[in-house]
Amino acid sequence: MKLCSQPLFAPVLIVCALGGLVQSFSTFQWPNPLLSYADQQLYEGPLEVLAEGCPPRDNSTIPAQWLRIAYHDMSTHNVDDGTGGLDASIQYELDRSQNVGEGMLDSLNDFNGFGIVSPFFGMADVIALGAVLAVAGCGGPFVPFSAGRVDATEAGPPTVPEPQQDLASHTESFRRQGFTPTEMIALVACGHTLGGVRQVDFPLVVTDNSTILQTFDTTPAFDTAVVSEYLQNTTQNPLVVGPNVTTRSDFRIFSSDGNVTMQSLLSPANFNQTCSSLFERMLNTVPSNVNLTDPITEPFDYLVMNNNPSRTVTLLWADRQESFCPSSGCSQQSNGTQNVFFTIIGQMQGVTALRYQFNATINATSSISKFWFEVNENDGSEPIVVDNGGAGFVVEQDSVFVDVARSELVLVESGGEFDEFIKLVVAVRGDGASTSASVTSFSPSLSGNPPFTPTINTTDLQLDASNPPEGGYTFFTMNTTFLVTFLDVTGTSSSGTVTQKNFDMTANNFPFVLIS
Ligand code: HEM
Ligand SMILES: *[C@@H]1O[C@H](CO)[C@@H](O)[C@H](O)[C@H]1NC(C)=O
Ligand SMILES: *[C@@H]1O[C@H](CO)[C@@H](O)[C@H](O)[C@H]1NC(C)=O
Ligand SMILES: *[C@@H]1O[C@H](CO)[C@@H](O)[C@H](O)[C@H]1NC(C)=O
Ligand SMILES: *[C@@H]1O[C@H](CO)[C@@H](O)[C@H](O)[C@H]1NC(C)=O
Ligand SMILES: *[C@@H]1O[C@H](CO)[C@@H](O)[C@H](O)[C@H]1NC(C)=O
Ligand SMILES: *[C@@H]1O[C@H](CO)[C@@H](O)[C@H](O)[C@H]1NC(C)=O
Ligand SMILES: *[C@@H]1O[C@H](CO)[C@@H](O)[C@H](O)[C@H]1NC(C)=O
Ligand SMILES: *[C@@H]1O[C@H](CO)[C@@H](O)[C@H](O)[C@H]1NC(C)=O
Ligand SMILES: *[C@@H]1O[C@H](CO)[C@@H](O)[C@H](O)[C@H]1NC(C)=O
Ligand SMILES: *[C@@H]1O[C@H](CO)[C@@H](O)[C@H](O)[C@H]1NC(C)=O
Ligand SMILES: *[C@@H]1O[C@H](CO)[C@@H](O)[C@H](O)[C@H]1NC(C)=O
Ligand SMILES: *[C@@H]1O[C@H](CO)[C@@H](O)[C@H](O)[C@H]1NC(C)=O
Repeated sequence: MKLCSQPLFAPVLIVCALGGLVQSFSTFQWPNPLLSYADQQLYEGPLEVLAEGCPPRDNSTIPAQWLRIAYHDMSTHNVDDGTGGLDASIQYELDRSQNVGEGMLDSLNDFNGFGIVSPFFGMADVIALGAVLAVAGCGGPFVPFSAGRVDATEAGPPTVPEPQQDLASHTESFRRQGFTPTEMIALVACGHTLGGVRQVDFPLVVTDNSTILQTFDTTPAFDTAVVSEYLQNTTQNPLVVGPNVTTRSDFRIFSSDGNVTMQSLLSPANFNQTCSSLFERMLNTVPSNVNLTDPITEPFDYLVMNNNPSRTVTLLWADRQESFCPSSGCSQQSNGTQNVFFTIIGQMQGVTALRYQFNATINATSSISKFWFEVNENDGSEPIVVDNGGAGFVVEQDSVFVDVARSELVLVESGGEFDEFIKLVVAVRGDGASTSASVTSFSPSLSGNPPFTPTINTTDLQLDASNPPEGGYTFFTMNTTFLVTFLDVTGTSSSGTVTQKNFDMTANNFPFVLIS
């Protein structure tokens, strides 16, 4: 089920949504902003457009670049003291020769460009998501995705393995990163099924300067060609057969156990399974004080069921006073549906979904304490109650919220010039004399170069002259830009200070207003 994004409550309007798909019920507990956001980015996020179909770039592919940056970022991990790992420290490490290649900067620009970095889903989570989408985008296996990484604010140690190092150094590097010698062989093979070595980056590895990039195998896809070509002795992998023996690191690694592991990876099923689980571990290698979410392996933030055009879905809610709504709840039937367009991840899992929309009016005086849904297949079976595991979807407070219906997208036209901004309106329960409001806004970096650090601004709001007090609420306003993606809204009244956290500006269709 895909619930309404955070503004669960407004005195006059609540628009929620519910997705319907195949087979079983989810145990997801709402609210969980990080899990909901991670689920949304994995199954409906915009990043996949650069990975689907394994698109070429810089004589390699975009997914190859995304997979390499994930490995290099993770390479700072030290299993002995629990430091380093996938933490976006790569943003501070780009001047090192081990991180040569324009794919690094290009990838970080891709990741920043979609503006999906949020207060709780930082660049490190985006790098990990990029690797998951990269593998799937080139026809590889699904890699279960966890979120919750913490972004570093400085460089880590220079511990990315390099081709001229010997086998003992590489074995020690991988041990330090948390991988056995056998896992090292497989991880390198799984990584080097994509992309290749650029002559300008490694002129001592690819010595023929008419070659721009020498691929590791003959297919751009995520497949076993890197293994079979190596074992058949037909490989052109420059780290196996390059003219300089010193830099044949893939040969030393692949043959380090008498080719036993490489033989086992000839099986496409084993290659898929091994690469998926090693990549999952690679992406989940984080400093020991960081906790990740459970892996997301299905679109859990949706209610799962078969498609049925005769289904009716009803939104029900209880009022705060427990006197206004009937004991069965106030109710509003869904007034429409929307198709959900899943990413490559949803497509490879074969899931489809419908989103049910609602527009219900809530009495501002009696308010709302929780809501839930009833799904009726209208086929004689008992209606199904969807109530967040029994507790309902609890609306924790109704004292402070972004008023979606009173906020506006404003386009000002003056002499052919256009200026656009968002008029944000915040409702605070209480009267004007004793209330106030402030907003802390989060905007992804606009800089063209890493490190990409977001802008966080705190602003006191003005009383909104165009929205006089109503229903026990006082309205405050500020003008903000489209760059802001998340807000924390704090309101103070005679009964205390309350904050509504993580309001998603991008998920909201504020009414549009043209002024000319
Ligand atoms: C001893 C370990 C490793 C060494 C010495 C090594 C070395 C290299 C080198 C020299 C390149 C060429 C980069 C360029 O031309 O800019 C490369 C590319 C690449 N590596 Fe590794 N690598 C190692 C392990 C891994 C691992 C474990 C992965 C797993 C994700 C990986 C993934 C990649 C990918 C996807 C590329 C292609 C990048 C592109 O085409 O843009 N490598 N590696
Ligand atoms: C390879 O790179 C060269 C020079 O950068 C470019 O002209 C060419 O189009 C690229 N080829 C592919 C297949 O990307
Ligand atoms: C490539 O190498 C040849 C022979 O070493 C040299 O003459 C030529 O200038 C080089 N070309 C480029 C573009 O570096
Ligand atoms: C593999 O090919 C190389 C040259 O490409 C040759 O020197 C070597 O003997 C071959 N090895 C086997 C096992 O066929
Ligand atoms: C081979 O590579 C090593 C390490 O990069 C380098 O020191 C050496 O000069 C190279 N040898 C030749 C012949 O290019
Ligand atoms: C492993 O396979 C490679 C490629 O076919 C071959 O050159 C090498 O001799 C093999 N090593 C062992 C120990 O069998
Ligand atoms: C490997 O995974 C890909 C992507 O899910 C799938 O298309 C392919 O059939 C799998 N291959 C095997 C042998 O499991
Ligand atoms: C991570 O989880 C452990 C165990 O639940 C907890 O003690 C610790 O405080 C958590 N750390 C963070 C940073 O949330
Ligand atoms: C249902 O209501 C929502 C919100 O008011 C609106 O956006 C949508 O167009 C309506 N759908 C139908 C089918 O009337
Ligand atoms: C929601 O319904 C109310 C009346 O029931 C209507 O005035 C309002 O325009 C609707 N909102 C949207 C976004 O459709
Ligand atoms: C809203 O709720 C209050 C308190 O329960 C009630 O007195 C009032 O009649 C309700 N208003 C409407 C329009 O239903
Ligand atoms: C943050 O505040 C500064 C100073 O008031 C302002 O110049 C800037 O435009 C604000 N940035 C955003 C993204 O709101
Ligand atoms: C927002 O912009 C409008 C139009 O420029 C202006 O009239 C209004 O005073 C601004 N509001 C605030 C709170 O600055």
